[in-house]
Amino acid sequence: MVVIVVACGAVDKAESLPYTVPMQATREDEWAQALAERSEAGLLRQTEVLQAEPGLRPLYRDASGNLLLSFASNDYLGLARHPALRRAAQDSFAAPELGAGAAPLLGGERPQHAELAAALAAWLGVEAVLLFGSGYLANLGVLGALVAAQDQIFLDRLAHASLIDGARLSGARLQRFRHNDLAHLENLLRRPRSGRAWIVTEGVFSMDGDLAPLPDLLELAQRYDAGLLLDEAHAFGVLGEEGRGSCEHWQCAANGLTLRIGTLGKAFGTYGAFVAGSTTLICYLQQAARSYLFHTALPAALAAATLAALPLLRRGKDRRQHLQLLVQRLQAGLAGRSYLPSSTPIQGLLLGSNEAALAAAASLRRAGIYCPAVRPPTVPKGQARLRISLSAAHSAEDIDRLVHALERPCA
Ligand SMILES: Cc1ncc(COP(=O)(O)O)c(C=O)c1O
Repeated sequence: MVVIVVACGAVDKAESLPYTVPMQATREDEWAQALAERSEAGLLRQTEVLQAEPGLRPLYRDASGNLLLSFASNDYLGLARHPALRRAAQDSFAAPELGAGAAPLLGGERPQHAELAAALAAWLGVEAVLLFGSGYLANLGVLGALVAAQDQIFLDRLAHASLIDGARLSGARLQRFRHNDLAHLENLLRRPRSGRAWIVTEGVFSMDGDLAPLPDLLELAQRYDAGLLLDEAHAFGVLGEEGRGSCEHWQCAANGLTLRIGTLGKAFGTYGAFVAGSTTLICYLQQAARSYLFHTALPAALAAATLAALPLLRRGKDRRQHLQLLVQRLQAGLAGRSYLPSSTPIQGLLLGSNEAALAAAASLRRAGIYCPAVRPPTVPKGQARLRISLSAAHSAEDIDRLVHALERPCA
């Protein structure tokens, strides 16, 4: 008889109840066993209910009433709490319906969606934009629609799970190249292949915070006649004078082969996603991207709030400058520690083992700071870390407090 200790929803095994798996294991038993194994390996993840505190700073209260300063949010510019967004959403909430109630092509499109898509396209200087329910859906839909089974996808080793899943969905041959290693990528591109080549990567990498070398990627894509799909989830709003992301940062124009995907749940402070490109591409995606065709349109109030966020993001130079100062302050404070090189608000403090990352997060937590441990499969095995996410809503004192808490672990 196998005895398995299940710690569901709590990593602390002392609180868990012993659970016995009968000879004929049911599916429930198998799931319980899988949970126990994850817990044992320090890989169990938990939902934590946090109540947002009033005000502009990223402050939350946990279920026990403890006040927490968060370094976990992707709200890089602090727009999620901006009153203009709330006002815009409230005005839209006054409309007769809350949910759009239908897919965009079956009556779910509202004036707010059309206005937002036009404003995003004008901001990026592209012909058209297509809104999606989320970045995850956008990546699934775009890769599934554009990449044929006989094509080949070259994906950066550190690319986001949604890009991996989209690549798998396409049925194309998938090859991973070493992170930002363009010599390796070129080696792969050189090999004979049937079908088209697609390079898939991120403008700013979600876990390491470093940048893809866009000018070199564009040059490679051009030379090998490859499509380039750039996920700008963490780049839009963060990079560039007007927050236009990697192209603006590197001062290079996206050519006809380039496709950019942005999410709205990060620097925009709202929710949803979009794909930017030519009118033909967008019209084609409308017909062929299944996660677009078969999803309910975003609530119009969210589109209205995003429309209110766009000019703030675009004119957010002061916020971006403040963020840069915070990055420098944090890195000065972390000197001598093993942090990943990054000039963006995503700062990774490498800790290696899952246990070390969990212990560091727990210690910060005792000091009133929320920064959960990031572990595999979100990051490679042996590279568990604290992913410190900075926001323009943080103050210099917030950074000092974090550094102080990291220096003096709380027992
Ligand atoms: C690089 C990247 N792409 C896509 C997504 C998915 O975006 P969403 O949260 O809007 O589904 C994320 C989410 O964290 C991401 O980091």
